[in-house]
Amino acid sequence: MTFVADTSHKILLIGAGELGAAFLPHLASLPNTYITLGIRTISKYTHLAGLNTSLLNLDISGPSPALSETFAKFDIVISCTGFGQDAGSITKLANEILEAGRLRKVAEREKLWFFPWQWGVDYDITGDGEGLMPLFGEQVEVRNLLRSKAEESNVKWTIVSTGIFMSFLFQQFWGVVDAQSESTVLRESITVRALRDWEHSVTVTDVNDIGKVLARIVVGDVESEDRVVYIAGDTVSYSELAEIIARVTGKEVQREEWTIPHLKEDLAKDPDNMIKKYRVVFAGDGVSWDKKLTVNHQLSIPVIDVETYARKHLGT
Ligand SMILES: NC(=O)c1ccc[n+]([C@@H]2O[C@H](COP(=O)([O-])OP(=O)(O)OC[C@H]3O[C@@H](n4cnc5c(N)ncnc54)[C@H](OP(=O)(O)O)[C@@H]3O)[C@@H](O)[C@H]2O)c1
Repeated sequence: MTFVADTSHKILLIGAGELGAAFLPHLASLPNTYITLGIRTISKYTHLAGLNTSLLNLDISGPSPALSETFAKFDIVISCTGFGQDAGSITKLANEILEAGRLRKVAEREKLWFFPWQWGVDYDITGDGEGLMPLFGEQVEVRNLLRSKAEESNVKWTIVSTGIFMSFLFQQFWGVVDAQSESTVLRESITVRALRDWEHSVTVTDVNDIGKVLARIVVGDVESEDRVVYIAGDTVSYSELAEIIARVTGKEVQREEWTIPHLKEDLAKDPDNMIKKYRVVFAGDGVSWDKKLTVNHQLSIPVIDVETYARKHLGT
C-alpha cells in the first residue's frame, strides 16, 4: 500500500487508552488518512474527535458477523484494546478480521491490513512462559492463525514487537527500579534489581515512539507485510540500567539480583500474583533484541532511550 495523493486511507483504531491515544496524533497526521476510533464508551473520548478523526461505537466483545462487516469497511485495522483481554478474545478478533478480508475479496477490494495487539515481547520465543502466561500462548496461536490463513483470506498483517513500555520499567510495583525500597537509607540510595542476572537484558519503548514508528510502517517505508517487525527505544542489560540510574540520580545504587529460582520461589508463595508471573517470564528469553534489528534503527527515527527517560523522570 502506498500513500498516493488521490487515494484516501481508512484506518480503524480500536481502543484509545495508553497506546491508542499515543498513536492517534501520528496516524492522524498522515496524508489522505481518515481515522475512525472504535470505542465502546464514546462519551469518554469525545475530546479525541478531530478534522480527520471520527468516533464509532464499537464493542469487540459483540457478535462476530456484525464486527466483520464493520472491519471490512476499513483498509487498516489497528488493535489497541489493552493487554488484559479475556481468554479467547484476541483469537476472536483475528478470526473476525479474516472474515472481513474475505468479505472484501467478494467485493473485489484490496487486502485488509491488520495490526493485532502484540505490542510486547517476542511471543514466539516466550511461548506461554512454561504455562504461567496463557495469554502469551494465545498470542502465539494468533500469529500461527495469521501465518496460515491470512493470504487466502485477503488479509495482510504486521506484528510490531515493542518490548515493555518505557514507563512500565520504572513502575514501583514492577520492582526493578525501586526508589522506595526498605533498604533505602534516608532516601540516599535507590535499589535496582536484576531479573535473572546482571547480564540479562530487556527492551523498552516509549508509547509515543511506538506511534511515531508505526506511522512510518503504515506509509510503507519499511517491508512489513506478513511479518513480525521490531522497535526498541532501548535495549539494556540490568547492569547498564543500574549504571544509568546511578548516573542520573547521583544516588548510591543498591544492587539486588532476583535469580530465576528466587523469582519462582516468590511466585510459589503467591501463585495468583500476575506481576510475579510476569517477572519469571521476563527473566527468560524473548524479552530483548538488538537495536540494530529495529525499524527505528533502519529508518534512523529518533527515539527516547532509557537514560533520557530516566533523566526526565528521576533526575535531580
Ligand atoms: N507491552 C507492555 O509493555 C505492557 C506491559 C505491561 C502491561 N501492558 C498493558 O498494556 C496496556 C496498554 O495498552 P492499551 O493502550 O492497548 O490498553 P489500555 O490503556 O488498557 O486501553 C484499552 C482501550 O481499549 C478499549 N477497550 C477495552 N475493551 C474494549 C472492547 N471490548 N471494545 C472496544 N474497546 C475496548 C478501552 O476502552 P474503555 O475506556 O471503554 O475501557 C480503552 O480505550 C496497559 O493497560 C498495560 O497494562 C503492556
